[in-house]
Order: sequence, then structure tokens, then C-alpha cells
Amino acid sequence: MGRLNERVAIVTGGARGIGAAVARLFAAEGAGVVIADVLDTEGEKLAAELGAPTRYVHLDVSTEDGWQAAVAETERELGPVSVVVNNAGILRWGTIEEQSPESFRRVIDVNVQGAWLGIRTTAPSLRRAGGGVIVNISSIAGLTGYAGIGAYVASKWALRGLTKAAALELAPDAIRVCSVHPGAVRTAMTADFDDSFTAGQPLPRFGEPEEVARMVLFVAADATFSTGVEFVLDGGATVGPSTVLAPAR
Ligand SMILES: NC(=O)c1ccc[n+]([C@@H]2O[C@H](COP(=O)([O-])OP(=O)(O)OC[C@H]3O[C@@H](n4cnc5c(N)ncnc54)[C@H](O)[C@@H]3O)[C@@H](O)[C@H]2O)c1
Repeated sequence: MGRLNERVAIVTGGARGIGAAVARLFAAEGAGVVIADVLDTEGEKLAAELGAPTRYVHLDVSTEDGWQAAVAETERELGPVSVVVNNAGILRWGTIEEQSPESFRRVIDVNVQGAWLGIRTTAPSLRRAGGGVIVNISSIAGLTGYAGIGAYVASKWALRGLTKAAALELAPDAIRVCSVHPGAVRTAMTADFDDSFTAGQPLPRFGEPEEVARMVLFVAADATFSTGVEFVLDGGATVGPSTVLAPAR
């Protein structure tokens, strides 16, 4: 018996990386999965590999029309949506002084407005399903600051706050909304991060997309008394300095 039997899930950014790992695990747990992405070749290939009822839809999450079409297709083919994973995201490098306003806006459009549109366009479907869960993939960049990626940091804090507002608005309809905050994970997004990025962590390694997928499954299937809260998996990166304190003499 799969932990997501009878559930219909939309996973944005599901063509590769963390989203693909979530799509694979959800399909293995019995969900009907809609992989929504802009990478059509990768998305179609993964959907074919996982087989029906899993399918691929082209969706740029920053477009409201795109979301409406994706939700309509999901309902038509699989039924009302009961799990939404707002995972699509982009990272653009640049200090606040270096980055162009256009680049800043694109990060916000995809990472924040994309999830906001996802919440508002799927909410009626989640109600029709009798309730459900929305999992927003934030980051440890939504828990602390990092130099050189200010737009990304701002977007991931915004997603954390949006999660709380949505949790309050949707709780009366039995819809939970939580955020997941991974540390550095080995995907295309971190291809140019070297091992020094994780060397200072209590667990000094990159995470794997499958580890994030297991956390997302837990939030979706098991964390039934949790809403509006953060689930962190970061090898201890945000725990604090590892300095050993001794009493002053
Ligand atoms: N890799 C990490 O270390 C890490 C850490 C914390 C959080 N995250 C977050 O996890 C999520 C997934 O990242 P990843 O590491 O798998 O990166 P990735 O680049 O491998 O995957 C991101 C996916 O999102 C898709 N995407 C980008 N823009 C889109 C758009 N406008 N519409 C639809 N799809 C779009 C991409 O095509 C891609 O398939 C992101 O939100 C990212 O910020 C990643």
C-alpha cells in the first residue's frame, strides 16, 4: 500500500534535480504525478519512464495562464489535486550592487510569484479534493543570509512567509501549507559549488535529491498535525558556530 495512493500531485520543476526525485518517490508511493516544468525533453522522458498515470505538462510557473491550463489538464486527466510541491526555482549570482533589476525581478517572479500563483490556482482544486497539502521548497537561504545571492535569499525568505500566510488562510479548508529548507544538495543548481561550501557543516557533505524527496513525502503524507512551519534538512549548517565554549576563569 503506497503512502500516496489515490492522491494527485503536481510537482513544479519536476524534470530534474530535487523535483525529479520527488516525482519518482511520489509515483513509487502510488500518487498520480504531474511533472510541470519548462524543460520539455527531460520532463517527457521522466514521465515516460515512470509510466501512466504520471504525465508531463509544460508550465512556466511565473505565468497565471500556464497554471490555469496545468490545473485544468490535471483535473481532466487525473482528478482534483491533493498535493502541490512548489519546487521550481532559479538562482542568479550577483551582489546587490552588481545584479540588474531585471535579474532580481526574474528570481522573484519564478521563486515567489510562481509559488503564489501555484497556491491561488490550485486552492479550488484542493478544496474539491476535500483538502490536501502544499509544500513550498524554500532553502536554508530562507533561514539565514548569504552574500552574492541576495535576490535568491530574499525570494526564499518570502516563500517562507508566504507559507505561513497561506497556512492560515487555507486551514479552514483542511489544506496544510509547509516549507522545506534544504541545505546544499547536489543538482545542476549547485554544479559550480565546490566541497568547501559544506566543509564547515557538522555533517560535511552535500545532500542528495532523494533525501529531500523523503522529507517532502514525510510532510505530504505523515506530518498531518503540521502547518505553516519549516522542515529543515541541511547537515546541521544552520545549527550555529562549532566553537567549544569554556567558562571564563
Ligand atoms: N540544490 C540545492 O542545493 C538547493 C538547496 C536549497 C533549495 N533548493 C531549491 O530546490 C528547488 C529545486 O532546485 P534543484 O536544486 O533541483 O535545481 P535544478 O536547477 O536542478 O531544478 C530546478 C527545476 O526548476 C525548473 N524551473 C526553473 N524555472 C522554471 C519556471 N519558470 N517554471 C517551471 N519550472 C522551472 C528547471 O527547469 C528545473 O527542472 C529550487 O526551488 C531550489 O531553489 C535547492
